[in-house]
Amino acid sequence: MGDVSWTELLDILFRWFHVFFGIMWIGLLYFFNFVNGPYVATLDAETKKKAVPELMPRALFFFRWAAMFTFILGWLLFFVNYAPNNWEQFNTTRGHWISLGILFGTIMWFNVWFVIWPAQRKIINGIKTGPPAAPEIAKRATLASKINTYLSVPLIFSMLAAGKHFLHDEWYWFVGVLVVGYFAVNGLYKTASKVSTNV
Ligand code: HEM
Repeated sequence: MGDVSWTELLDILFRWFHVFFGIMWIGLLYFFNFVNGPYVATLDAETKKKAVPELMPRALFFFRWAAMFTFILGWLLFFVNYAPNNWEQFNTTRGHWISLGILFGTIMWFNVWFVIWPAQRKIINGIKTGPPAAPEIAKRATLASKINTYLSVPLIFSMLAAGKHFLHDEWYWFVGVLVVGYFAVNGLYKTASKVSTNV
């Protein structure tokens, strides 16, 4: 295999599928927040009963498993990249960015598996067979989904900064990334609420 080491090979394979599943996960997150939310809000009870139990279990299947694979492959990438040199990499600019990325990614994975998915199961079953789920359940799921959407933009910056060895880690870079992420997502929510269905 030429001069490619096993660690290098594992690193590129894990990276490839980590980003692949990351795209699937975050793409579906944006679908839920910017497309499906505003769409479902326009449906009457009868249509909802037909559409939601068919659409949501399929979308949530790819959503939660993509989150799981991104998470597992992310931790594998962490061990391949940071363990071999006695964790030296961890105390560098690269290490600081990946710490923020891993913190956000792990919160987001937790939200998917332990808040959004259990709540959505109750909501979907409520629509399917009744009685409807309590409004707090939908509120909790929406909040967790919004938190994940806001965290996703700084998360992607942090992952890329670590992967590309971006050389700044002054506090204002972290604050700047969070602020840009906040305004970007805010703008997308505003756009989503105004998208015209006249084409
Ligand atoms: C769920 C928890 C996550 C963990 C534990 C995690 C962990 C990691 C680690 C350790 C790296 C390698 C960084 C380095 O080389 O220094 C990485 C890279 C990366 N991750 Fe994540 N990640 C997570 C979520 C995500 C998500 C949701 C995305 C969204 C697409 C993502 C996208 C990326 C990208 C684009 C890279 C950089 C690849 C490169 O430049 O070579 N990660 N991640």
